[in-house]
Amino acid sequence: MRKKIIAGNWKMNGLKQDAQALTVEICGMLKDEVRAELTVILAPPFPFISMVSQLINDSRIHVAAQNCSNQPSGAYTGEVSPAMIHSVGAKYILIGHSERRSYYHETNSLLAEKINLALTHECLPIYCIGETLIQRNSGDHFNIIKAQLQEGVFHLSKADFSKVIIAYEPVWAIGTGVTATAAQAQEIHAFIRKLIAENYDDNTAENISILYGGSCNEQNAGELFALPDVDGGLIGGASLKSRSFINIVKAMSQQ
Ligand code: PGA
Repeated sequence: MRKKIIAGNWKMNGLKQDAQALTVEICGMLKDEVRAELTVILAPPFPFISMVSQLINDSRIHVAAQNCSNQPSGAYTGEVSPAMIHSVGAKYILIGHSERRSYYHETNSLLAEKINLALTHECLPIYCIGETLIQRNSGDHFNIIKAQLQEGVFHLSKADFSKVIIAYEPVWAIGTGVTATAAQAQEIHAFIRKLIAENYDDNTAENISILYGGSCNEQNAGELFALPDVDGGLIGGASLKSRSFINIVKAMSQQ
């Protein structure tokens, strides 16, 4: 059974008191109308992970880090290891977000190292992939996505790969207000699932959760989540307001 997941990526926004208020509000609003099988993930900035983990009082909500080191420990000033992340209560880690790829030059091979290390420390990777507008306009998007999967995660054993969540986030849709159309999202999600089936098998492909991200909001969530190969969303801007985030969670719960 594929997990249905809504993850909120808070990026580098807010102070401690904002993270606290947002967590308390989300916990309070996530009432019984949201199905028990739904997984809700909050990805606060590093300094707030511990607090957010402690504030959560609902078994449907989990915490993610937004990044991790590719090194297990030692003299790597400024880095944060998966073991540290796990020790303060986060079970998931976003790996390969397009902002990490573009601003911090993270490559597929570096991301593969991070994914290996995260899995070693019992953190579940949410591996983000997606093409830029130039790549899409030149018809290169299928090749880009294939390479991101081949070089980032397809080296994993079937057992390890089954722990990974994929997030398809077209770079041109992130924070722009331009979302992928339902047809564009379904086409790529189905393509990703086909590649997984080819690299592993049908059963593995059928059971992996593939999230859509990029200007997903209360208005378009229902249409996107109704698509057969979309298993939830990775939400940026709209995850910073408890009401809009909860409405997106509800849109998933109604599928
Ligand atoms: P957005 O961001 O929802 O603000 O477009 C999504 C993301 O970057 O994960």
